[in-house]
Amino acid sequence: MRSGAAIATLLGGAFFAVMLGAAAPSAGDRALYTPDERAAIMAHSPLGPPPADPTDAVADNPRAAALGQKLFFDGGLSVNGAISCATCHQPQRAFTDGRALAKGLAVGTRNAPTLLGAAENHWFFWDGRADSLWSQVPYVIENPREFGSDRLHVAHALYEDPSLRRAYEQVFGPMPPLAESARFPAHGRPEDDETAPAARAWGAMTAVDRDAVDRVFANVGKAIEAYERKLTGGPSPFDRYVEGLKTGDRAKLAMLSPAAKRGLKLFVGAGHCDLCHSGPDFSDGEFHNIGLPVPPGEDKDTGRAAGIAELRADSFNGIGRFSDDPSAAKDKLAYLPSPQSQLGAFKTPSLRNVALTAPYMHDGRFKTLRDVLQFYAQGAAASQGRLVGAREETLALVPHFTASQISDLTAFLEQLDSAPPPPALTRATGP
Ligand code: HEC
Ligand code: HEC
Repeated sequence: MRSGAAIATLLGGAFFAVMLGAAAPSAGDRALYTPDERAAIMAHSPLGPPPADPTDAVADNPRAAALGQKLFFDGGLSVNGAISCATCHQPQRAFTDGRALAKGLAVGTRNAPTLLGAAENHWFFWDGRADSLWSQVPYVIENPREFGSDRLHVAHALYEDPSLRRAYEQVFGPMPPLAESARFPAHGRPEDDETAPAARAWGAMTAVDRDAVDRVFANVGKAIEAYERKLTGGPSPFDRYVEGLKTGDRAKLAMLSPAAKRGLKLFVGAGHCDLCHSGPDFSDGEFHNIGLPVPPGEDKDTGRAAGIAELRADSFNGIGRFSDDPSAAKDKLAYLPSPQSQLGAFKTPSLRNVALTAPYMHDGRFKTLRDVLQFYAQGAAASQGRLVGAREETLALVPHFTASQISDLTAFLEQLDSAPPPPALTRATGP
């Protein structure tokens, strides 16, 4: 026979158990995730500061960043005076342009990625043809569809503007004597077609003067990199939620809706998204062929296959003579895969701020996140038609999501937006 006290204990125990059951999800959302999923979630947050870039000696120099900010918003570097970095990387659109294919002097072939957190990358551009933020800049300036400009024009633009010239010389020392027009023509750049006027003007200069202009050109990139390294943005609702998982803070645990939590569980678990979208940046920093068919009538884009050749040939790469620490980039460039193995591979984009950066993929083919997820959900069936190279086999692990799973994943991806950078960093003149 049970004593009254024992019954009271039993009842009390049962009552306590019910309370625990109800409290468990909010007390760390423990019941929601397996231990593996929980560990995988923790690996996505927080996002630390960008890694150091020893190839750019002024990467963290505030004066260089202030100059870089001016140059970022300055149309004067482009051939018609009207196009700046901010034409395609607009601060009010999370540093994208909202277009499928970016448009400078003409429409290009790729989608403009966000620059928020860009400094977290190891490789730049969808095809990785630049190995640093600074060496990315010369490509844009001399691209006929973007700035349509050239390195001599850029050097003159800085030299002839007293405030830009002062800012430049404070960081990098004296500019070459660009006023001597016999030595430094208004336009000039190396080109494959050596009979082009800009190539002829460039070829007529002395090697020493060409080197001096190249150095100014590299330094413009290095100053812009110093600015870009500050475009980090604050923590996202997802990061707050992870803090909640660690501390049990109820307000933080409530940062994600039940649908977003289900989406997160899929993302790190059964969905296998973090095979590629891994780490705090939601990118492994590498290149994959996810089997996007080439749209009818469009040229094939070989992605990383061509990117590797361009990177090797680039005189501004990390092991070149304008690098401030070639030894730091040596290993990175020594172990590149064979171009043939990289046909149709593109860089895994970060998914931070992804809800703000539509449209999606290297060619902006998908308007919404739902469209992207429908593509993944169709599996190999979505990769029928003309492919470049072969779809990676790991993608077979991604399941055929149901409509409600797609909604859950979308709800999760919408929680990765960071607070925007401070206004002092999003206008032409800096702090
Ligand atoms: C005409 C539009 C346009 C202009 C102007 C432009 N960009 Fe871009 N930007 C793009 C496109 C498109 C890409 C992707 C191109 C590719 O991958 O081949 C890109 C890529 C980048 C990347 C690589 C990001 C990553 O995650 O790999 C950086 C950094 C960048 N741009 C910075 C700049 C800077 C700095 C300027 C000014 C000097 C600039 N862009 C001017 C359109 C533009
Ligand atoms: C095998 C590696 C891999 C896997 C697995 C993978 N992705 Fe991707 N993801 C990529 C690559 C590479 C791209 C860019 C492809 C391109 O543009 O050609 C991309 C693009 C995206 C984009 C577009 C982002 C943008 O800014 O354009 C989203 C969103 C996305 N993936 C979400 C997911 C989700 C959700 C999952 C899980 C269901 C997933 N990915 C699984 C490699 C992968």
